[in-house]
Amino acid sequence: MSRITLMVNGESVTAEVAPRTHLADFLREARLLTGTHLGCEHGVCGACTLLIDRAPARSCIAFAVACDGADVCTIEGLADDPVIVRLRAAFTAEHALQCGYCTPGMLVTARDIVQRLPDADEGRIRVELAGNLCRCTGYAGIVRAIQRVLADGAPAAQPASAPLPVLPALPTLPPTSAIETPRGPEIVQTLRLALPLADVWRAIRDPYLVAECIPGARVIEVVDDRLRGEVRASLGPIETLFSGEGRISFDDAAQRAEIVGDGRDGRTGTRLSARGVVRLKALDAATTGATVTIDYTLRGPLAQFARGAVVQEFAAAIASDFAARLEARLTGKSLPEQRHLPAGALVLRAVWRRLRALLGFG
Ligand code: FES
Ligand code: FES
Repeated sequence: MSRITLMVNGESVTAEVAPRTHLADFLREARLLTGTHLGCEHGVCGACTLLIDRAPARSCIAFAVACDGADVCTIEGLADDPVIVRLRAAFTAEHALQCGYCTPGMLVTARDIVQRLPDADEGRIRVELAGNLCRCTGYAGIVRAIQRVLADGAPAAQPASAPLPVLPALPTLPPTSAIETPRGPEIVQTLRLALPLADVWRAIRDPYLVAECIPGARVIEVVDDRLRGEVRASLGPIETLFSGEGRISFDDAAQRAEIVGDGRDGRTGTRLSARGVVRLKALDAATTGATVTIDYTLRGPLAQFARGAVVQEFAAAIASDFAARLEARLTGKSLPEQRHLPAGALVLRAVWRRLRALLGFG
């Protein structure tokens, strides 16, 4: 991991990034700036176009580490830009979008054309747009929208586009043949259980009981310190069944439990390696605090869903469900049966909570 500091939409951001993380993934996953779209991820379609040091650039072929010190501006950062405001109105008037997938990158390029080529005619506009592919519109509306803004007169004074930045040499990348989540920062969740410490510790020592409190989880067998189990999860239309093995250990004196294991979903071929640690602490005679620390690596098709900030929210949603179910189980209340971990619904809930927090309603 490398530490970088860059400006993102006028805000200084410092982060740890893997050498192979490209700027678009960094912005979408770590900053949730999902206005930057990804199409080809080969620098061809232009969907990921944004501004690096005020010049249009492909964020799918710019490594985040190479943008250390750069000034990055995404479509979100251009919301009030006077040229973009005019282009948005013109795109609407000229029906210059259908699905909208190409639109953020198209607007960034259109803004550059309007600022740099005030005399551009239709032919020149089409040449300048050659690096932005649109699958829906046939381009006629997009070209007309840009012509409409140019015809409306000179754009409000804007700083000229800077020359393309000279990026530092790229780090050597590890070979990879599959999508893999970087072994990122640990997920840490703290829980508060309205139960005495001794009761919670007894429950944590019972893997069968713990599995009962995690929807979709099942322990198949425990032999000495080895455990075999599975977790069923639904992610929209995708149903997964992760089966795996782990090694568990308990420290009675410190009230600390640890599990290290590997699992595989036979349907998608996704592999998961994880280590989880639970530490308990009495908050008072009737309340226990639990700290759960997880670090994991996902490899394979489902790794694309493991987006940094969302995973944290997802883990928080599972942890609070687990706490509620454990409390219910230990106080004799019945638990509604849940045969699947509703991963899709939890991710949506996590994204919604994250959005509310970002918008200040949190
Ligand atoms: S996603 Fe970057 S150019 Fe296609
Ligand atoms: S509007 Fe759908 S790809 Fe351009």
